[in-house]
Amino acid sequence: MKLWKKFLQWLNDRTGLVDMIVSQAVHPVPPGAKWKYVFGSAVLTAFIVQVVTGIGLLMTYVPSTGGAYQSLQYITNKAPLGSLLRGMHCWGASAMAVLITIHLCRVFLTGSYKFPRELNWASGVFLLGITTAMAFSGQIIRWDQNAVWSMVVGAGMAGRFPLIGKWLAHFVLGGDVVGSYTLSRIFDVHVFILPVLLASLAGLHLYLVLHNGVSEPPVPGHKVDPATYRSEYQDMLRKRGVPFWPEAAWRDLVFALAVVFAVLLLAWLAGPARLDKPPDPSLINAHPHPDWYFLWYFAVLALLPHALENYVMILAPLLIGLILFSVPFVSNRGERHPARRPLAVAAVIFIFPAIAALTLSGSNENWSPRVNTPPLTADIIGASSGPVYDGAMVFSEKACIYCHTIDGHGGKRGPDLSYVADRLTHDQMLLRVMNGAYNMPVFAHILSSEETESLLNFLSTRKKTGFVVGQGQPAAGNSSN
Ligand code: HEC
Repeated sequence: MKLWKKFLQWLNDRTGLVDMIVSQAVHPVPPGAKWKYVFGSAVLTAFIVQVVTGIGLLMTYVPSTGGAYQSLQYITNKAPLGSLLRGMHCWGASAMAVLITIHLCRVFLTGSYKFPRELNWASGVFLLGITTAMAFSGQIIRWDQNAVWSMVVGAGMAGRFPLIGKWLAHFVLGGDVVGSYTLSRIFDVHVFILPVLLASLAGLHLYLVLHNGVSEPPVPGHKVDPATYRSEYQDMLRKRGVPFWPEAAWRDLVFALAVVFAVLLLAWLAGPARLDKPPDPSLINAHPHPDWYFLWYFAVLALLPHALENYVMILAPLLIGLILFSVPFVSNRGERHPARRPLAVAAVIFIFPAIAALTLSGSNENWSPRVNTPPLTADIIGASSGPVYDGAMVFSEKACIYCHTIDGHGGKRGPDLSYVADRLTHDQMLLRVMNGAYNMPVFAHILSSEETESLLNFLSTRKKTGFVVGQGQPAAGNSSN
């Protein structure tokens, strides 16, 4: 004990660190902060998990197009605790995404970004941006089929940037095409450039939290006025402040441990993200499927009218970033309590269901053809032989069913054709099938004239009234739209 004390004295004499830590530990913080203030430190905890597990993965990962995929397979399937390590890194990323979102919402809803904490918020928005880039680059260096195609999409995105697009795409790819230079560049970005930026910015963020103090829990009617805020805050700390350790910090500690435990548990039970097939540049119809926290954005891009995609792809993230960034510069004073800021609450209440709905449709991927839909049955067709039945078979065999639904069976890429004959005449249907459309292939050279004829026979029966051919069920019983 004596030796330990002596060591601390020596350390403090040479560095001043012990005094600094002690003074931070006992510095007064506002009372009543409770559990909703733990998410910031939880993000930091998740980040530390990422750094530690990331270093672990780095020991075995091979950053080359020939070796990356194999090394990840080795880590996942053979290396001792490798699957757990990769799992923790994957789930740690998810944890970071979730915790940052909660932290951001909490700070927004309690108006903690207002004077004098504008730069706390601004640095936080940059941290969010860098974390997003970390998540994206991390998925790329998996270097499976999915990753390579995500990279193609990402480079396409960069390429659409006004003026510098071409240069930017070249820069992120490390060349003109996705290849070994791309992987080594994204790898450098993921393990060196971004982590260094992230750590330094997190340091600044933390420094600002200490410099400006933790915001006091908001009170309705108690407005922020930059002229008086600081003296009021100091006054409040003098009168009612509690020491950071242990009054406030024990919750941070408990929650941080819970985060680490949850990440460990998920990694153990659910394992890491499944590796897609190895990359195969000849598979042009592979469709990239990002990790869950990007699904909503993926859905936005897929659901947009094609003409808007170019603009939205690059402008939407910029705009979201800009709006977030500008929040404290638009209003840094006034009410902080959510009860007095209905617009702020409404914004959050609106955004979450929207993102949830988009995430859901992103995971359904209704815009991709359902290539394993079984053929239509006699029940749905309303006949078990004859020209209508033959037409329905063509409909299944020629892949129409992958994109079109009949009575709830089939894909959702194209319009539901359950009652197509109510909308379109025979000739209109023929024209569409022969000529295709945006996202609908041209079938003129694929179908023989007999096939075309029976296909149209079948489609012509698809009416709300009167398509009951033979033993089919009453039309009123079908409610697929
Ligand atoms: C790759 C997906 C895909 C496949 C395969 C496909 N379609 Fe389509 N189809 C679409 C899309 C998307 C549209 C909507 C096009 C538009 O109007 O922009 C469409 C439109 C149609 C329409 C017009 C529907 C309406 O309400 O306007 C008909 C009829 C049609 N398809 C029939 C067929 C038939 C018959 C086949 C098989 C020979 C087929 N489609 C194969 C995607 C597909």
